[in-house]
Amino acid sequence: MTTLSQFLTEHIQQNNLPTALGDVFESVAKACVQINRQVRQGALAGILGEAGTGNVQGEDQKKLDVIANQQLIDVLKTNADIAGLASEEEDTFVACNENGSYLVLFDPLDGSSNIDVNISVGTIFSILNKPEGALSEQSFLQAGRNQAASGYVLYGPQTQLVLTMKHGVFVFTLDADGNFVQTQANPTVPEQTKEFAINMSNQRHWFKPMQQYIEALLAGETGVRGKNYNMRWVASMVAEIHRILMRGGVFMYPQDARDPAKPGKLRLMYEANPLSLILEQAGGASSNTVKNMLDIQPESLHQRVSVVMGSREEVEYIEQLHR
Ligand code: AHG
Ligand code: MN
Ligand code: MN
Repeated sequence: MTTLSQFLTEHIQQNNLPTALGDVFESVAKACVQINRQVRQGALAGILGEAGTGNVQGEDQKKLDVIANQQLIDVLKTNADIAGLASEEEDTFVACNENGSYLVLFDPLDGSSNIDVNISVGTIFSILNKPEGALSEQSFLQAGRNQAASGYVLYGPQTQLVLTMKHGVFVFTLDADGNFVQTQANPTVPEQTKEFAINMSNQRHWFKPMQQYIEALLAGETGVRGKNYNMRWVASMVAEIHRILMRGGVFMYPQDARDPAKPGKLRLMYEANPLSLILEQAGGASSNTVKNMLDIQPESLHQRVSVVMGSREEVEYIEQLHR
């Protein structure tokens, strides 16, 4: 049995990584164990329902969006290795400790529309090296490939932490005593799949290549792809990506024709980049339909992006249709 702390010590030594990176993971895990407790209590802790507030991106906040955000901020601020953080629920970045060498970006509660109906939600995070000099928004605007590490915690039937420090992907399950214990090493995303995930209700708004792609999948054996596909939509990206990590599949939230100022719904820095790094480390692929997700140079903290990720063959097929 390997606990998270034991894993971090060994993995960091084996791969010549800074010990401070392990401490950052310890802090994130600590906050997520607290969030997990709230999630598990639900109505008993009075944490369901609307907060009655909105975030800077114009989305209504749930009580648990606000609570999870605050718990992460409170814990991360006490870690001297963390120079600053950025959250989906904060207007701008938060400065932490001047001598810290890491930046942490997070979606404190992904899939929050699911919390009131007892369906899986999660926390997604990205860890960056802090560039030299004074902390500014610019310090955070690094391409996904530059991430030092990333991960997520899925509050599902089991609470699991999945992480990468760019030397493989590791899965931990929270035990009854509140400790993460390693339960899997290096899961791989199968190159081919027969399962896709997309919010079909947006179909009429999609651009032509996406229309064409889904039409081909729905045609099954009688179409150009020559096989039948299955569909899943949890509406928690973190849960879809975990499913894809475990058994393959392709997840899409494409930009559509509704609002030209909004290139997709999901956020590059808090959702797409950290999950792309995990999938890429596991042999999967990720794209904004024309470019590898991890090569996108971000222009702002809350930037939205078109998302296609999962089994390599499907991601490449979709990119081809967009060429
Ligand atoms: P968040 O709860 O952080 O705002 O993210 C929700 C995201 C993502 O997790 C999910 O895939 C998608 O929004 C669901 O969108 P629909 O409501 O269109 O299904
Ligand atoms: Mn989210
Ligand atoms: Mn969120």
